[in-house]
Amino acid sequence: MFVLGIESSCDETSASILKDGKILSNVVVSQLIHEKYGGVVPALASKNHEQLINKVVKQSLEDASITIENVDAIAVTQGPGLIGSLLIGLNYAKGISIGLRKPLIGVNHLHGHIVSGLIDNDVKYPFLCLLVSGGHTQILKVNSDINYEILARTVDDAAGEAFDKGARILGLKYPGGPEIDKISKDGVLGNYHFTIPKVKSNLVDFSFSGMKTALLYKVNSLTNVELKKEICNIAVSYQEAIIDTLFEKLKMVLGMNKVNDILIVGGVSANSRFRYKSKKFKKDNNINIFFPDLKYCTDNAAMIAMAGYIKYKKKIYSNIDIIPFSSLKR
Ligand code: KG4
Ligand code: ZN
Repeated sequence: MFVLGIESSCDETSASILKDGKILSNVVVSQLIHEKYGGVVPALASKNHEQLINKVVKQSLEDASITIENVDAIAVTQGPGLIGSLLIGLNYAKGISIGLRKPLIGVNHLHGHIVSGLIDNDVKYPFLCLLVSGGHTQILKVNSDINYEILARTVDDAAGEAFDKGARILGLKYPGGPEIDKISKDGVLGNYHFTIPKVKSNLVDFSFSGMKTALLYKVNSLTNVELKKEICNIAVSYQEAIIDTLFEKLKMVLGMNKVNDILIVGGVSANSRFRYKSKKFKKDNNINIFFPDLKYCTDNAAMIAMAGYIKYKKKIYSNIDIIPFSSLKR
């Protein structure tokens, strides 16, 4: 049973082939055009998806050594994401679904991120999932393969956004997470301090915008020469504060929800310091912690194919007239 997965919610054009729950191919093209603008330009993203989608799908079929006629279902990201970008993937998927007379399965991008961690790991339900991406930061309780509830969320920026905006303030490239991760390795912790923010209305919720403002004030108080000298030390402390915030909230939620397994997914889960510190968290809390393989952390179609496969087994198909959605309404 073959699923073709398609992901185009932001600036990655991706297609994947899954066979009976196993990933056979996963082609991801990251649109580099956005780098010089310091963030994703929606109009350019959709234009690039349009130019890339057919090539990327063809490559995914070729890598899996199958033809389009072998495909039994088409899973595609329906949202949340950029409407123009989502429309390219969704319309392409609809075309294939109509042409092949095979089911179309609309996938919530966040469901995709959750199951990205199930591709190579044996995580047991119920588990807590910390989803940390460029657009979202949430802790979810996942009760079964399609039943999950959100227990904590960010009230302002997402963790990935805190990395990206922080990197921009420091004069680093977009996306900022990998850049901060990289230069932090040359930094010394403890010279700078960023406070872990408290959200009074709900203590388990996240807030990152204050930290970003504190970074901005710090950077503005330095000369260019001082910044150049101190950039790695500032980055490492800023990164540490983001990571410690994530662990602090995770610990609070864990205290209220006894589970044995925690899954950490989304682009920020690729962070090397975050992965390193998770070992101590695991030991201190006597818990299993799972991460997706690095190639499944940032946006990819393998996770969409996986979510589609789970829905296919339950015969949860979509109507051909589904439309994309931009925010977390569903
Ligand atoms: O999951 P993702 O690819 O896209 C969304 O669904 O948003 O996540 C992208 C985010 C970006 O903010 C990027 O800076 C961050 O993940 N990211 C990282 C790392 N790699 C990607 N953040 C910290 N450290 C990394 N190594
Ligand atoms: Zn994502």
